[in-house]
Amino acid sequence: METQYNTNEQEAARQKEIMERLKVRIAALSESLGRPLTYCSVCFGCQMNAKDSEKLEGILETIGYVRTESEEADFLIMNTCTVRENANLRVYGRLGQLKKYKKKNPNMMIALCGCMMQESLVVEKIKQSYRHVDIIFGTHNVFKLAELIERRLDAKGMVIDIWEGTDEIVEDLPSERKYPFKCGVNIMFGCNNFCSYCIVPYVRGRERSRKPEDILAEIRALVADGVVEVMLLGQNVNSYGKNLEHPISFAELLRQVEQIEGLRRIRFMTSHPKDLSDELIAVMAASTKICRHLHLPVQSGSTKVLKDMNRRYTKEDYLNLVSRIRAAMPDISLTTDIIVGFPTETEKDFEDTLDIVRKVRYDSAFTFIYSKRTGTPAAAMEAAADEETVKKRFDRLLSEVQEIAKETCGRYQGETVEVLVEGVDEQDHRLLTGRLSNNLLVHFPGEKELIGTFQQVKLTEARGFYYIGERK
Ligand code: 5AD
Ligand code: SF4
Repeated sequence: METQYNTNEQEAARQKEIMERLKVRIAALSESLGRPLTYCSVCFGCQMNAKDSEKLEGILETIGYVRTESEEADFLIMNTCTVRENANLRVYGRLGQLKKYKKKNPNMMIALCGCMMQESLVVEKIKQSYRHVDIIFGTHNVFKLAELIERRLDAKGMVIDIWEGTDEIVEDLPSERKYPFKCGVNIMFGCNNFCSYCIVPYVRGRERSRKPEDILAEIRALVADGVVEVMLLGQNVNSYGKNLEHPISFAELLRQVEQIEGLRRIRFMTSHPKDLSDELIAVMAASTKICRHLHLPVQSGSTKVLKDMNRRYTKEDYLNLVSRIRAAMPDISLTTDIIVGFPTETEKDFEDTLDIVRKVRYDSAFTFIYSKRTGTPAAAMEAAADEETVKKRFDRLLSEVQEIAKETCGRYQGETVEVLVEGVDEQDHRLLTGRLSNNLLVHFPGEKELIGTFQQVKLTEARGFYYIGERK
């Protein structure tokens, strides 16, 4: 059962008081050292984590830390992901390296947060083997960073604060936006789907939707502050609002967001195919602001594997849904996530995955080798294929996906389209990078003053997954 988040204004005020106190302490420390104190923010994982990191960075900036990209900082915060085992391994690797920085700089503090910290075995391991970590917290209490820093400054030893779950949201705290012109907005937290391979429901808790009025107020404030594009974020946005006191559908929320004057583009992530309604398709098709892109994770093309994954749709259901979407929006870009080597996947099942990829023809697909997550139902299933077979399947899938993507992505060559200019091209500084409504990128000559504006760009050359263009 989804619970509604209670907005806790008192708590936000309390955190702001702590930030004021810390501001004084950090300023004093900085003065005695004769230099500003720096922070480095490292983020693994999905868009939800990226959003949380912006909140953490907002708090650190408010109390007086200055951003640096170097991990040799006075405050290092690592926001972790645990969706696959190698995400965890990367964190342990980094932690080992950080020890030497901490030896050099006695003022250094290391904080860990995010999904991985919601696993008790992980926290035990860090307590035992990585004692140079100062602060550990989880996914439910990101807003408390200032309080945890204060506690660490006042007492010796690791500060650990992990919540099993929560029915609260603390809003209206500082957030450091990565881009002035676009921003992610949480519309819900957690997940109720329990796909059998996935650890997210265990580390992010049950679904909790934010009230539409809070979401709309946040977006209006962002727009007043220069934001032209929002990404509505949730683990499964299609089940947004079902259990609010006054239930509302995701499609209806989109309709209301669309009304916000000054907002130009709306994106959202992630959609579960089983909950994608015809109402949503209709709202998207009629909209001038909702971008022509849907990320629709399929995970597998085999109905049997989908059942074992607890995805609650069949191969046919998915293909049917894609047909309905394409009938309403022929120009839509579809992207997906696919897992290869799920325990019950046989060669025949894998062929079904290749088949669905060929039928849907995705613009791009994130492909993953199945990773066993302790505590999930799939972890108890016996593997049908060995590692080498799975790796071979993965390579076959990847080349299929890439070949199709190259063809489908190039379909707009020669057209002139509206793009939002997002920045200077990292490879070639004479070029700007703009994003099309369908999420593809185009690089074209231009001045950096255009960043954050919309431009008409002719897509002169398709280069696989991006375009080269010129301003019109
Ligand atoms: N192993 C491999 N991939 C996984 N994902 C989620 N859990 C696992 C796992 N145990 C993938 C899914 C999901 C994406 C975010 O990560 O494809 O859509
Ligand atoms: Fe994980 Fe499935 Fe929830 Fe996505 S919908 S977060 S894959 S349990």
